[in-house]
Amino acid sequence: MTILFIILFLLIFISSLCYFVFYVFKELKQLLLWYWIPFVPTPDYKISNLIENIELKDGQIFIDLGCWDWKILQAICENFPKAIVIWYENSWDPYKLALKRKDKYNLNYQVYKKDFFTESLENATIIYSYLLPYIMARVWKKIKNDCHKWTLFYSNYFQIPEEQIYKIIHLKNNQNIYIYKV
Ligand SMILES: C[S@@+](CC[C@H](N)C(=O)[O-])C[C@H]1O[C@@H](n2cnc3c(N)ncnc32)[C@H](O)[C@@H]1O
Repeated sequence: MTILFIILFLLIFISSLCYFVFYVFKELKQLLLWYWIPFVPTPDYKISNLIENIELKDGQIFIDLGCWDWKILQAICENFPKAIVIWYENSWDPYKLALKRKDKYNLNYQVYKKDFFTESLENATIIYSYLLPYIMARVWKKIKNDCHKWTLFYSNYFQIPEEQIYKIIHLKNNQNIYIYKV
């Protein structure tokens, strides 16, 4: 009887431990470094500065490379209701959140659970990103390869190495947004 009890206890203990390790690992991976880009959204004050520095005519395309929260695209949809707003996101959690917010706030953005490196960015008027320094050269290569000469690329905080900046949105504490023209 005692042995049975000990085995049962050990089984429960080991499965709880496995669940805990799996759960912590999953959460950490999602919260910090999913696809090696952390889940950090552009702060609200930057979104208002971004909106002031964007021009989008009816039918023109805005693409956000990686979504995390929906606030940027909510702002774009509300300020430019006739623009086409597209989001690519390769992680499940932000993607599902984007779908929920789209319904909840009745927003007209298109959201795709895709790796933006595999999608054509060809007709974008404005491409926005908040990624990390190590990936900027690769992103820029993709944009130059896919896009027209008039496409503008807005990069929050991170510059493209050795590339000429077209314009800078100067923000407090050097938290600039850099604009590049293809
Ligand atoms: C730092 S967050 C920025 C989110 C949003 N653009 C913003 O500024 O609030 C970066 C997002 O890009 C996503 N991401 C990273 N690499 C990606 C890729 N190759 N394709 C699609 N999404 C990607 C990450 O999952 C993450 O949600």
